[in-house]
Amino acid sequence: MSTLDAVTGAFSYTGRFVAPRLLARGRTVRTLTNHPDPKSPLAAQVEVVPLDFAQPARLVEGLHGVDTLYNTYWVRSNHGAASFDAAVRNTGVLIDAAREAGVRRLVHVSIANPDKSDLPYYRGKAELEQRVRESGLSYAIIRPTLLFGHGDVLINNISWFIRHLPVFGIPGDGQYRLQPVFVEDYADRIVSAGSSTENLTVDVAGPEIFTFEGLVRMLRDAMARRTVLVRVPPAVALAGAMLVGVAVRDMALTGAEVRGLMAELLISHQPSTCPTRLSDWAGEHREELGVRWSSELGRHYR
Ligand SMILES: NC(=O)c1ccc[n+]([C@@H]2O[C@H](COP(=O)([O-])OP(=O)(O)OC[C@H]3O[C@@H](n4cnc5c(N)ncnc54)[C@H](OP(=O)(O)O)[C@@H]3O)[C@@H](O)[C@H]2O)c1
Repeated sequence: MSTLDAVTGAFSYTGRFVAPRLLARGRTVRTLTNHPDPKSPLAAQVEVVPLDFAQPARLVEGLHGVDTLYNTYWVRSNHGAASFDAAVRNTGVLIDAAREAGVRRLVHVSIANPDKSDLPYYRGKAELEQRVRESGLSYAIIRPTLLFGHGDVLINNISWFIRHLPVFGIPGDGQYRLQPVFVEDYADRIVSAGSSTENLTVDVAGPEIFTFEGLVRMLRDAMARRTVLVRVPPAVALAGAMLVGVAVRDMALTGAEVRGLMAELLISHQPSTCPTRLSDWAGEHREELGVRWSSELGRHYR
């Protein structure tokens, strides 16, 4: 059996936590990415090939000899040339390339509650889960809720608002719930799913469920700030976030994300298997939480 695995985006967010776990298990790691990072400590340890959906033959070549492909590829919103429709098509190209290259197993990252919404992010994820199940490859479909940990976007940027502004606008009544999961627990789970042989679909969710207002309050207390929390209509909160987005030259929040959050799509309906509590982690990292803005556009578009 081959000892070579492939990970999309090993220098991006979650792939950065997956690749070292595979290396620690004695695997050889190849990453498919359009953002290689020569300064990363991983750069000397992983092979880099382009994630070029326009050239399926190159993808097949890049996947030759690979035992397990860990696919994290997706886009956060329709922005510029990136769109959910294109991401569905591109992922289809990647799945076909994996099959043609003889990849044995596909660990595919989806999202919790992919089929419970008409939001394009979730609809696209549901469509791709079906593609994975019909691919003929051995598969594991991993469904995280909302990830936190070094380098995350949403929890860090909520913390940035709390740290830097005197007032935080809670969309609506703030009583809708979410269940964050630690990125290292997620990475452990997906790597163990790679070494299993059974076809599986599993949620990855943390041990704590917060109301959104409770989460913001907890982060505020962890950072010992006095930011005033005010309940505002969702459109007002979104407009405020967009204004900040202009100031930091990033997409702070999208309308679809607010809808998904308020529809409680960021919680799991399965028992949690991930031990790390955001409230503990936030306390331990109170000095660094939200100090710097975590830029989605900076990461993928510049
Ligand atoms: N982050 C969360 O809270 C969360 C929650 C639930 C589910 N998920 C799912 O977890 C998976 C991994 O998320 P992540 O946060 O680790 O994502 P990420 O690191 O930001 O990106 C993962 C991969 O997608 C590519 N990518 C991202 N945006 C792109 C764009 N606009 N155009 C072209 N390529 C793009 C990256 O390419 P490069 O390598 O070239 O950078 C990378 O290979 C995704 O499937 C996501 O839907 C994430």
